[in-house]
Formats: sequence, C-alpha cells, structure tokens
Amino acid sequence: MNFSSETVDFLVIGGGVAGLRAAIELAPRGSVLVLTKDKATESTTGYAQGGVAVALSDEDEVCIHYEDTVKAGDGLCNEEAVKVLVEEGPACILELMSWGADFDKEGSKLSFTIEAAHTRKRILHSHGDSTGKEIERVLIKKARSFPSVRRYDFAFTLDLITEDGRCIGATVLRGDSIINVFARAVILATGGAGQLYSRTTNPVISTGDGIAIAYRAGALIVDMEFIQFHPTTLYSPGAPQFLLSEAMRGEGAVLRNIHGQRFMHHYHEMSELASRDTVARAIVSEMVKTGARHVYLDLRHLDRDFVKKRFPQIYTTCLQYDIDITEDMIPVCPAAHYIMGGVSTDLAGETGIKGLFAAGEVACTGVHGANRLASNSLCWRGWSSAQGPAGVH
Ligand code: SIN
Repeated sequence: MNFSSETVDFLVIGGGVAGLRAAIELAPRGSVLVLTKDKATESTTGYAQGGVAVALSDEDEVCIHYEDTVKAGDGLCNEEAVKVLVEEGPACILELMSWGADFDKEGSKLSFTIEAAHTRKRILHSHGDSTGKEIERVLIKKARSFPSVRRYDFAFTLDLITEDGRCIGATVLRGDSIINVFARAVILATGGAGQLYSRTTNPVISTGDGIAIAYRAGALIVDMEFIQFHPTTLYSPGAPQFLLSEAMRGEGAVLRNIHGQRFMHHYHEMSELASRDTVARAIVSEMVKTGARHVYLDLRHLDRDFVKKRFPQIYTTCLQYDIDITEDMIPVCPAAHYIMGGVSTDLAGETGIKGLFAAGEVACTGVHGANRLASNSLCWRGWSSAQGPAGVH
C-alpha cells in the first residue's frame, strides 16, 4: 500500500447530478477534485427514467408544484426548501438545456407528462425513459470543459478528515494507494442507501457510505426512517430488479392483482396516480390478500407504437426476459428507491461541521418531507458565490 497526500480547493465526493453540478459551480473559483467509487457514468442519476419535475408548462404554476410537493411529503417538508426547489427549478432546467440537454418535445414545445401525486403535467423526459442518462451526459461534458476540474474514478472515500471540529479533507482508497486529500471545503454527494434492502431500484454503489462517513465525523443525521419504496419494479425470476417508471402509470398503465382485477380505486381516489407511498402500500396489501409475491402492471390497452416509442429502454429490457410490455402484463412489486433523510444541511448545503457540505440524496434539507414527490430529485441548483463551499476560507 502506498500513502500520499494532495491538496485541492474543493473536494466533491460523488459524480451524479449533485456532485457534478457542484463541481461545475465551483470550477471557476478554484481547483476541484471529483471522486467516484465506480466508473464516471455509474451513479444513481443515470438510472432515473421518468423525468424531472418543473413548473414550465403553460398549464402549470410554481405555487401548484409547491402545493403538490408539500402534500406528497405528508406535511413534513421544510417549506423554505420546497420554495427553493420549485422557484429555482425552471431556471436550472433552462440552464441544462443551454448546456445541451435534449428533453423530448411535441412539435417545437417541450413535452410534459404527469406522474403520481402531481396535479399538472410537469415531468420533462428525455429519449422517452432515459432522462437521468441525458442529464448525466450533459453534466459530465460540462464538468470536463473546465481545466480546474479533475476526477478520480474507482476511488473510495474511507473517512472524512477533521481538525478542531472542522472538515479539512478525506482519506481515499484508490487502487493500492491511500491518499489524504486536503481541501478548503468538502461536498458530499454520495447518493442513497437502497442496497441496505433486499429489493431496491438502486445500483450496487448505493450503500449509504456517505451517510456513514458523515456520521463518524460527527455530522447530524436526520429523518432516517423515511425510506421511499417505488411501487413498480420488475419481478421475474432471473430478471434484475428493474425500475418500471411511474411515468407508465402517468401515461395510463393500470395495476391489477394476481387475479387480473384492478384494485387501486379501493385505496385512493387518485387510483394509480395516488402518491408513491399510498400505491406501494396498496400493492403490498393486495399481495398479502392474494398470497402472491407480485401484482401486474398492465399497458395492453395503450397504443403499441406509442408504448414502444415512449418507453424504449423499458420495452427492450423487459423483452430480454420474454415480457413484451405491449402484449403481456408485467409482474411488479415495490422496492426501496430513495432515502428522504440523510446528512442534515441548511439551504446552502452546509452541515453542522464547518467545511462540510452535502447535496443530493445523501443530504436532508427536509425538501422531500416524509415522501418525495415523483421526479423531484434530478434538479440540483448551483450555489451563489456568497453561499456554499466557495464562501469557505
Ligand atoms: C420513475 O421514473 O418512476 C422514478 C423517478 C423518480 O424516482 O422520481
């Protein structure tokens, strides 16, 4: 084992939407090192299918997005954080588009879909069901355009380094080297912890280690009981626990129990479009009642060509497991999807430890309350120069 040390201005741990957006913001203000524990494109961001929620359509308003978010969060959202999300979201999306993000359009206008617990069509999507991949592609390209941004892939952060109650860097395992990276500010953007559960939509890298290192450094960890289960993941012997986007129900897919009967109307007036927690619980109740390990998602009544065009990734993946989603009911069951709790931060992303910031799924600003509104996770703003890591000396 080799031991070394290096110094940068800003250390960003994690290469998904939160980490990359932070790196882009900080790039003009100093040297930035981005660490990812797998390859550059392997982050939860890349797995996000359905889309990104933003009040940009003619029929929508920021205040309605706000109300839907707070309602889905079961009244437990930090309302100031929700305001930041819904008010700054439109500008963030326009910025992403100016950097080259290609969201689907109908004619010359952006195409919006609806998802559970939204009362307006406000979900933008890309290449049908590959929204996260598109956003990640654009952010990776943008981050690479700054000479001040470097990255170490396959670099695992073992612990944060603190001195006199301040975070001054992190200890990183990279190949056969252990490197102490010292920085003016450290930004944790390590994503979630879905791999703690036997069924999850999360990739194998989502092991909660960002929360663990922050905890060991003495950061406040909050709301850890709020774990969101996505209602519909593929349940088929030999198949991966593949996400079947909420947008499928937004486009009209329905749920049926093992006997082929629809059931959501017994549980909520919004039926298949009730909030995620309600739908996931209803599915589990139905599984218990019928003694089955899954229910079905049914798109057979939708136009075949529309389904193939709208959900190309899902269509192709399911076909590999002999399920033609235009002809067959899809066996599905809930799986751990998103952790609303995490490292407590203020609205500038600052934790209780000087020099340590957190952003994205690892962080808890309280924006999602007890239950994140669908597609409210891909939008991450930058920091103004007065706030955030750039203000740390
Ligand atoms: C989905 O496409 O259903 C997932 C999107 C999200 O978790 O917000």
